[in-house]
Amino acid sequence: MNTESPIIRPTGLDIARIRADFPILSLPSNGKRLTFLDTAASAQKPRQVIDAESHVYEAEYANIHRGVYDLSQRATVAYDKARTKVRKFINAASDREIVFVRNATEGVNLVAQTWGRRNLRQGDQIILSEMEHHANIVPWQMLREETGLELVVIPITDSGELVWEAYEKAFTSKTRLVAMTQVSNALGTITPMAEIIKVAHSHGVPVLVDGCQAVPHMPVDVQALDADFYVFSSHKLYGPTGVGVLYTKAKILEAMPPYQGGGDMISSVTWAKTTYADIPQRFEAGTPNIAGTIALGAAIDYIESFDRQALMAHEHALLEYATERLQALNSITIYGTAAEKAAVISFAIKGVHPHDVGTILDFEGIAVRAGHHCAQPVMDRFGVPATTRASFGIYNDFDDVDALIRGIGKVQEIFG
Ligand code: ALA
Repeated sequence: MNTESPIIRPTGLDIARIRADFPILSLPSNGKRLTFLDTAASAQKPRQVIDAESHVYEAEYANIHRGVYDLSQRATVAYDKARTKVRKFINAASDREIVFVRNATEGVNLVAQTWGRRNLRQGDQIILSEMEHHANIVPWQMLREETGLELVVIPITDSGELVWEAYEKAFTSKTRLVAMTQVSNALGTITPMAEIIKVAHSHGVPVLVDGCQAVPHMPVDVQALDADFYVFSSHKLYGPTGVGVLYTKAKILEAMPPYQGGGDMISSVTWAKTTYADIPQRFEAGTPNIAGTIALGAAIDYIESFDRQALMAHEHALLEYATERLQALNSITIYGTAAEKAAVISFAIKGVHPHDVGTILDFEGIAVRAGHHCAQPVMDRFGVPATTRASFGIYNDFDDVDALIRGIGKVQEIFG
C-alpha cells in the first residue's frame, strides 16, 4: 500500500486489470518495476492487439483486394472492417473518407503533396500555431520551397494557449488552410478545435487537424467538429506502428489527385493512359500494412470497451496529482499550464539537463522522454533547448506518479 497515493476518485475503472492486459508492464526495467510515462511518444500494446496481429499471420493472412481464394477474401473483409471501425470511431460520414497511411506524418504529407500542390500558389497563406509538431510544420515548409506560399504562425501564451485574438486577426484574402493540433504533444494544451474550425469556415478556409495526441485521450467526432482533414497514428492509440489514418471530407478527397502511383490505386493501366480508382483506394498504392491495420481495429475495440468519460477522468486525476506533486518540489518549472490540458507534463529541473534527468530516471525503471519532442519551435518559445516529459495513458496509476517524484528526488540528490 503506497501511503503517498491520494484517495482515488472512483471512475469505475479497474486500473490493475487494465495493466494486466499489457504484457510489457509486468516486465522489469533496469531491475525495477517499469514506470512507463512516455505514452505520448508511443503507447504500449494490450494483449488484445498483439493477439489480433498474430492471429492474422497465423490464420487469416493473404494479400487483399486481389485473390479469388477464400483466405484472401477473408483478409480483405477483415481489412475493410478495420476501415469501418475507424469510420465509426471518429464518426466520419462514410468509409470512403478514411485513407490508411503509415502514420499521421504521412497523412499530413499526403495532403501537402496532393491537395496542397494542386491548390496552393505563391503568396497563399497557411495558418499554423507555435505549438505544432514538426510533422505539421516541415511538410508545409517543403511545399513553401516549391510554391512560395507563406506560413503564418499564431503565437502561444506563457501558459501554452493559442493567442486567440491573433488567430482571429490572421485571416486574409490569401488564407487557404489552417493546420493545427488538437492536443500539443510537448505542452499537453487542448486547443479549442471546434471554435478554431468555426472561425476558419467563416472565412471559407478548410482546416487540417493533427489529432495524434487527441484520439487516444478523448472522444473525437469529425462531423461535429466539421474538420476537413483529420490525421492520427495507430501506435499512439495502443495499436501497432506503421499504420495511420487520414480522414478527409469526401467532396475534398474526390477532387484530390493521387499521392503515390502503383498497384491497387488504379482503375485501368495502358501505356497510353492510366485511370485511377475511386476514393479511398486511389490513395492506397501498393500492399498496405494488412495485419497492422486489422490490429488497429482491435485497438479501437479495446479502447471502446471502456467508458471513455471514465478514462478521461482517470487520466485527468493523474495529471492533477502529478502537477500538484511536481509543483510542491523545489526548482521545478512546468512548461504548459493551459486550463484545458491532456495528461502530458513537460518540466525542467533547475541546473540539470533533461537528458541527465531522463537517464537517472531510467536507472529507476522510469521511462520519460527528454528532448525537444519533435517540437523545436515550442522549445524556442520557452527559451529552453529541451524538457523532460512525462505522459500518461490508460494503464498508468498513482504509483507511477509517486515513482516519478521519488526518481526526481534522486536526480536532485545526485545534482546537489
Ligand atoms: N510525436 C511523438 C512524441 O511526442 C514522437 O514524442
